[in-house]
Amino acid sequence: MKRSTLDLLACPACGSALTLEGEGNPVDAGLLRCQGCGREFLIREGIPQFLPPEGLTGLNRRFAHLYDWFSYVYDLYARIAFAFLGGESRRRRELLSHLESDGSGRLLEVSIGTGGNLPYMIGKPGLGEIYGLDISLGQLRRCQSRCRRKGWEVDLFLGNAEQLPFKDEVFDSVFHFGGINFFNDRKKAIAEMIRVARPGTKIVISDEHERGARSYELTLPGFSRTFKRKREPVRPPVELVPETMEDIRLTDIWRGWFYCLEFRKRR
Ligand SMILES: C[S@@+](CC[C@H](N)C(=O)[O-])C[C@H]1O[C@@H](n2cnc3c(N)ncnc32)[C@H](O)[C@@H]1O
Ligand SMILES: [Zn+2]
Repeated sequence: MKRSTLDLLACPACGSALTLEGEGNPVDAGLLRCQGCGREFLIREGIPQFLPPEGLTGLNRRFAHLYDWFSYVYDLYARIAFAFLGGESRRRRELLSHLESDGSGRLLEVSIGTGGNLPYMIGKPGLGEIYGLDISLGQLRRCQSRCRRKGWEVDLFLGNAEQLPFKDEVFDSVFHFGGINFFNDRKKAIAEMIRVARPGTKIVISDEHERGARSYELTLPGFSRTFKRKREPVRPPVELVPETMEDIRLTDIWRGWFYCLEFRKRR
């Protein structure tokens, strides 16, 4: 984590500012302490850990574990799934073209996974600094190796999309792909993406439709078991977007297998 990133961080439990103990820049090992509630969050191998094990419940806990082991083959699985949808590079670029930024700003990818979108974000004119959060340490470690291999500076955080460890209104672009359908609390996650976005920011959220989810039942080991075979059908969370948002738009993408939900926080 870059030392300057401390200015963006806030306690995910109480929202207060944090202090940092740790050497070097970036900080590889250290401690973040909340000035409000006193909670402590470790930084290990450069990744601040905002997820106490007791804070992981329900579907979030099951998916964090599923992705921890699935992270070994995630990139291969994604490549195959995207090949069926029309090609990974083409489809990821298409999705990212929905994002907006003036180039000097900060982009947050909520649920960054192994960083599959990074090759198409880094150096894209208009996107500035990139920050990524995920609930699975396995996924984040793979993302970190990818960034180190490529020499990309991306700050990563272990945390829950429903309790983002950031101050209000610090990001100029907020993006999520691929996880929200099965979060514990989709409404809270959307409210959090809005909270951390600056006024005027466009927020882009995309995930699979129900038929995509059904294909996971056939192809993704452990997926059905995760729901104990009682899964609610997927519904794009458009009704969870507050009415105060502007330009709310829900579109079917990729031959109707996925949806893209976009809206703008009022200036
Ligand atoms: C299908 S992957 C998508 C990863 C990446 N966005 C991509 O495009 O390849 C879904 C990701 O959501 C993450 N995730 C699941 N529940 C989460 C939560 N409550 N908060 C943050 N991330 C979560 C998983 O760990 C996983 O990495
Ligand atoms: Zn606190």
